[in-house]
Amino acid sequence: MNELDLLIELHQHNTRLGPGSDEATLRALAFTGLANQSGMEILDLGCGTGAQTLTLADRCDGSITAVDLHEPFVNRLQKKIVKKGLQDRVKTTIGSMDEKKFFEKKYDLIWSEGAIYNVGFGRGLRLWKKGLKETGCVAVTEISWLTEKRPEEIQQHWQREYPGISSVSRNIRTLERSGYRYLASFALDEVCWTTNYYQPLKKRIRQIQKKYTSQMVEEIVARESREMELFQKYSEFFGYVFYVARNR
Ligand SMILES: C[S@@+](CC[C@H](N)C(=O)[O-])C[C@H]1O[C@@H](n2cnc3c(N)ncnc32)[C@H](O)[C@@H]1O
Repeated sequence: MNELDLLIELHQHNTRLGPGSDEATLRALAFTGLANQSGMEILDLGCGTGAQTLTLADRCDGSITAVDLHEPFVNRLQKKIVKKGLQDRVKTTIGSMDEKKFFEKKYDLIWSEGAIYNVGFGRGLRLWKKGLKETGCVAVTEISWLTEKRPEEIQQHWQREYPGISSVSRNIRTLERSGYRYLASFALDEVCWTTNYYQPLKKRIRQIQKKYTSQMVEEIVARESREMELFQKYSEFFGYVFYVARNR
């Protein structure tokens, strides 16, 4: 088993593969002004096991295309779709969020929670604009600095893990320079991180440690634990921020 397989096994049983909540998804949706539009066409990029996909399917009238690079996550979501009888409205696809073919069609809404970092915030936004209708919107979460200054330890951690991390104001500028009209932004609250993401992850880590003993497991566990520790210590300085914007 390689590191990617192990990471997939660690996460695939969880409802969320990153911080988030139904409330935050619905709040961002409300900012788009599209929540009550009928026949909406939505593209959910980096859908994972589909927490936000199912929230959107529940609240919106229309269809959703949910895309993720990793088959095991898509398969999990597909099972949930069948269980809920949503096959006619929600389709899953395996692929990368920067593949041009996904943007040949025009959508009302492009959604992405905890995933745009895989292609870069600005690059993703510029590419995804091609897949939006004239009045279409994007809603994405991105790890962001919440303050102008922060302690060296957390600065260095994120500089190492994700050098693309920016402040909220810079990300809003990036949105506007990428051809969008900024509508709203808000930071995800603590429950999104702790109750909804870290607690189930900790439980899963204990299961994985019982199942496998290897240096790779311990390294991954140490990395995840370190991230949780840093969140507890420095959550006032960084967080996931929802950005909502309209095509311009
Ligand atoms: C932190 S998870 C978030 C998943 C889900 N949106 C959630 O919040 O539970 C990031 C997701 O992006 C997916 N991913 C990574 N690179 C990708 C790419 N290039 N294209 C599409 N999905 C990608 C991963 O497989 C993973 O499911």
